[in-house]
Amino acid sequence: MSVIILGIESSCDETSASICKDGKILSNVIATQKIHEEYGGVVPELASRAHMQNIVPVVDLAINKASCKKEEINAIAFTQSPGLIGALLVGGQFAKSMSLALNIPLITVHHMQAHVIANLIDDPKPTFPFLCLTVSGGHTQIVLCESALKMKVIGQTIDDAAGEAFDKTAKLLGLPYPGGPLIDKYAQDGDPNKYHFTEPQIQGLDFSFSGLKTSILYFLNNAGTSNVYKEEFIVDADKRKLFIKNNLSDICASVQSRIVSILLNKLLKASKQTGIKEICIAGGVSANSGLRKSLLEAGVRNNWNIYLPKFEYCTDNAAMIAMTGYFKYLDKDFVDLSVSSSARSNWD
Ligand code: KG4
Ligand code: ZN
Repeated sequence: MSVIILGIESSCDETSASICKDGKILSNVIATQKIHEEYGGVVPELASRAHMQNIVPVVDLAINKASCKKEEINAIAFTQSPGLIGALLVGGQFAKSMSLALNIPLITVHHMQAHVIANLIDDPKPTFPFLCLTVSGGHTQIVLCESALKMKVIGQTIDDAAGEAFDKTAKLLGLPYPGGPLIDKYAQDGDPNKYHFTEPQIQGLDFSFSGLKTSILYFLNNAGTSNVYKEEFIVDADKRKLFIKNNLSDICASVQSRIVSILLNKLLKASKQTGIKEICIAGGVSANSGLRKSLLEAGVRNNWNIYLPKFEYCTDNAAMIAMTGYFKYLDKDFVDLSVSSSARSNWD
């Protein structure tokens, strides 16, 4: 008998639903909330309201696109954590109601585990054990995966996430949110060696990005500084703006190259420590062209097998939730309706 899972994702600013049949994704509908752009970041209250508007049409469309009927669905999987509480509640409560109405099992999914599982959607798939560098707006992790449901975080950021480093740099450069894709775009015409930003010295496999943000801020302020009165330095906003305008590509390329080198140096260390050469990436930042290129080059140098998920499975999506739900269904890992729609859940 076939197993059909409906996956629901609503942890941040994407409302998404997907149908997975026997481990194959049949549909993956994503409604991206544009409203946050004008605020320079995700506004939690607006995200919850947009999820409420989107959830019914998005789920309907996912079911229709998969050419299946509601009655054929075997279980519903939803993102339980981590995420914005109001946003999670919308997807979680909707999943619960639907599981009650259809009288089918409910499955909770950890969003970060699902990002890793995005690598198990399409062929070629990595063999176990593999390492996954998960880089998103809220997380930066190196995960050791022994099986689809047995994972361990062996390195993570102690402050900002890699996506935050991209987005905050973009904000300093006057670019709109989310700035990561724009930095990627401008970096393509820039010189990555033009400006030097130091690499933080953090022990083990952990990351830090907050120092980088501060050094970019000082760098931009210095570039816009006028020695106006003896020792007093005053940031001249116009001078700073002009400097950014004239050097945007080189600044973006230099910042991106530093973020990529921080990520890849730790990944190299993790591969050496564990002896694992099956390497995956996940999360929104894994769409970055500089990271993808450098990862492929590092793969050749270090004899790694590299796996890059399709772009639609890198950023937040419900296909990864439905796929994780499928593995949990096979494991009979169900929850009852009293489960919290937003509680912290363990996954390693
Ligand atoms: O995984 P994701 O969609 O959402 C979270 O769970 O956070 O990741 C969003 C992050 C944002 O910080 C965004 O700027 C970044 O991924 N991002 C990129 C690129 N595309 C998305 N960063 C750098 N280069 C890109 N091409
Ligand atoms: Zn995510």
